[in-house]
Amino acid sequence: METNAFIEEQVAELKRVVGDGQAINALSGGVDSAVCTVLAHRALGAQLTTVFVDSALMREGEPQRVVDQFAELGIPVQCVDAQAEFLGALQGLTDPEDKRHAVTATFYEKVFGRMVRESGAKYLIHGTILTDIEETVAGIKRQHNILSQLGIDPEQAYGYRVLEPLKTLRKDGVRAVAKALGMPDAMVHRIPFPGPALATRIIGEVTAERLQTVRQATAIVEEELDGCGAFQYLAVLMNDRATGIRDGQREFGQIIVVRCIDSTDARTATATELPWDKLNRMCERVVALPGVNRCLYDLTPKPPATVEYI
Ligand code: XMP
Repeated sequence: METNAFIEEQVAELKRVVGDGQAINALSGGVDSAVCTVLAHRALGAQLTTVFVDSALMREGEPQRVVDQFAELGIPVQCVDAQAEFLGALQGLTDPEDKRHAVTATFYEKVFGRMVRESGAKYLIHGTILTDIEETVAGIKRQHNILSQLGIDPEQAYGYRVLEPLKTLRKDGVRAVAKALGMPDAMVHRIPFPGPALATRIIGEVTAERLQTVRQATAIVEEELDGCGAFQYLAVLMNDRATGIRDGQREFGQIIVVRCIDSTDARTATATELPWDKLNRMCERVVALPGVNRCLYDLTPKPPATVEYI
C-alpha cells in the first residue's frame, strides 16, 4: 500500500477504535515506537499519553534526549521511574527467556497496568512490527511486545486493549512512514533498539553494575559508528571473563562484543566490513572501561545468529 494511504488508514482506524476514550503508549528510543507515537498523536492528540519508562535498561542520556526530541514535535512525554521494579524482577535470572519474560511482565502487568488504572486509558498503542510477530510465532524467541499471538488476551490479563498500527510493516516500511510523517532525519534513520533494551545485551544476570558497563560500551560504539550507514550496531557484555594485564598486574576482566550489521529488515543480516582503524579505536576505548580487558568483533551473520544476544 502506498505510504500516505497507509498513514490515513491507520489514523482513521485509531480514531474509530479509541473514539473519545484515552490511550497510552511508550517510547523505547528506537524507530518503531517513535513512529507509532507520531502516528497515534496525529490521530488522538490530547487523548494520547506518551510515556518513557525509565526501566534502568535504557541507554545513556536517553530519557532527556527522548523528551527533548518529542518536545520539538509538540508531543509531551512523561518519564516514569520504574528502575527498582525492573531490577528487582531481573534479579538472579540468567536464562534468556526468563529474562525476557521478566521484562514483559514488569512492563505489561506492573507498569502499564498501574498507568492504565491511574489514567483511565483503555488502549495501549504499540510499535509491534511484522518481523517481531513472525519470529515469536516461529518460536525463535519471545519478543517482549508480543501478547495476543502467544495466546495472551491483554484485556483479560491486564485490563486494556492493545492496538498495533505498524504490525503489517517491516523496518524499511516503518522508515518510509516516518519520512512521510515529516519526522526529522535523526529519528527516521535512528538505529533499531529493542523494547527489552540493554537486558538483551547482557549474558547472565542483569545487575545495575553490569548495566553500567554495557551502557558505557554502547555509548562508545554508537558514537564511533554514528553515520556509518550500517543497519544496527551494539555492544554486548559476556558472562565469561578473560585474563589480562592492567598496570602490570593480572586482571580477570570482562569481555565486550561489538556487533555491527547490514540488513534491510532484520530478518537476515551480515556483519559490516568496518575499517580496521575504526575497529581499533573502538577496541581501545572499550578496554579503557573499568574492569573490561577484551573487546571482540562479531562476524556472524543472521542466521544462524540473531541480532541481539538473548
Ligand atoms: P533479533 O535479535 O531477533 O533482532 O535478530 C531483530 C531485530 O529486532 C530487534 N529486537 C526487538 N525489538 N522487542 C523489540 O521491540 C524485542 O523483544 C526485540 N528483540 C529484538 C533487534 O534489535 C533487531 O533490530
